[in-house]
Amino acid sequence: MMTMPLNDIINNENIKFILAGGKGGVGKTSCAGAIALLSAQQGFRTLVLSTDPAHSLSDSFDQDLSGGDEIPIKGVDKLWGMEINTERGMEEFQATLSSGAAGPEAQMASQFLGDMGGMSPPGADETMAFGKMLEYLEDASYDRIVFDTAPTGHTLKLLEVPDLLDTWLGKIITLRQRLSSMMAGFRAMFGGGQEEETAWEMLQRTKEKIKKAREELSNPELTQFVVVMIPEAMAVFETQRLLASLNAWDIPANNIIVNQLVPDNPDCPFCSARRKMQQSNLADIKDIYKDLSIIEVPLFDREIRGIDELKRLGAILIGGDSA
Ligand SMILES: Nc1ncnc2c1ncn2[C@@H]1O[C@H](COP(=O)(O)OP(=O)(O)OP(=O)(O)O)[C@@H](O)[C@H]1O
Ligand SMILES: [Mg+2]
Repeated sequence: MMTMPLNDIINNENIKFILAGGKGGVGKTSCAGAIALLSAQQGFRTLVLSTDPAHSLSDSFDQDLSGGDEIPIKGVDKLWGMEINTERGMEEFQATLSSGAAGPEAQMASQFLGDMGGMSPPGADETMAFGKMLEYLEDASYDRIVFDTAPTGHTLKLLEVPDLLDTWLGKIITLRQRLSSMMAGFRAMFGGGQEEETAWEMLQRTKEKIKKAREELSNPELTQFVVVMIPEAMAVFETQRLLASLNAWDIPANNIIVNQLVPDNPDCPFCSARRKMQQSNLADIKDIYKDLSIIEVPLFDREIRGIDELKRLGAILIGGDSA
């Protein structure tokens, strides 16, 4: 596979989805924020969307982005931010499911939600997040959506949603039964749909949308997953698992951001020891992933918070190996 450096991805007008993912606390939100800023600065109407139920996008941008609506980022043209309000969406969905006649449909629904890990997060959150993805698929308001994803496990669940939903819908469609009690819930999750539209048509349409989403997610011309990690053994292992899963699902991933590299400081034995350990892990990563672009980001002397710091990070991300 041809490598595609992050800078080229950001400047490529065809790229619609960029996902930042990795282990907990490694810098996913900061990198998603920085990439979204670069994207907007390139003139692309960009939405940075947090699918992590433990949102921290607001903290990163130092602006309240909660509430579940797209909010313009202050002081930046063409950039919006949003933390998905899964509770709001899932409450509506759940209410619809539990009301009305219980039948085979409801049974299947609960079975599906069981597969997804029950009604409680993470399953519900990922399904909602995927629902949003489907919405934006057909929405031309943004040129690009940058996803600030939850730590690896949850993100893998999110990427599993299309297949799970597809199988589930397939079963239901085969049953050819009316699903009146669930329709409002589906509408709430996936948008669209006239009141009078039949359950049948809506399910078919949702299935098509899911198929399209699956295709778009695995199309390297449209989607790029950026793996964020820190140069520590545990993160190296997790990165290998993540990349293997992405590969298995055909999700294009060409870039690894190695974050929080301790700068060289011979006067500090503690720093030197950490740096040695990190450099050794970094060398392993470079060795394992020769075909991928490895972006090195130093540990900053302060938190990455607010537009200026995110821009500083962005400059490093597209500057290449400037650690
Ligand atoms: N290179 C860096 N230098 C200094 N601080 C950093 C760096 N990268 C990230 N941080 C800080 O580390 C913390 C975690 O970063 P961030 O929130 O981006 O990680 P995350 O992977 O999204 O975490 P979570 O898994 O909790 O969502 C933040 O306080 C951030 O400011
Ligand atoms: Mg985060």
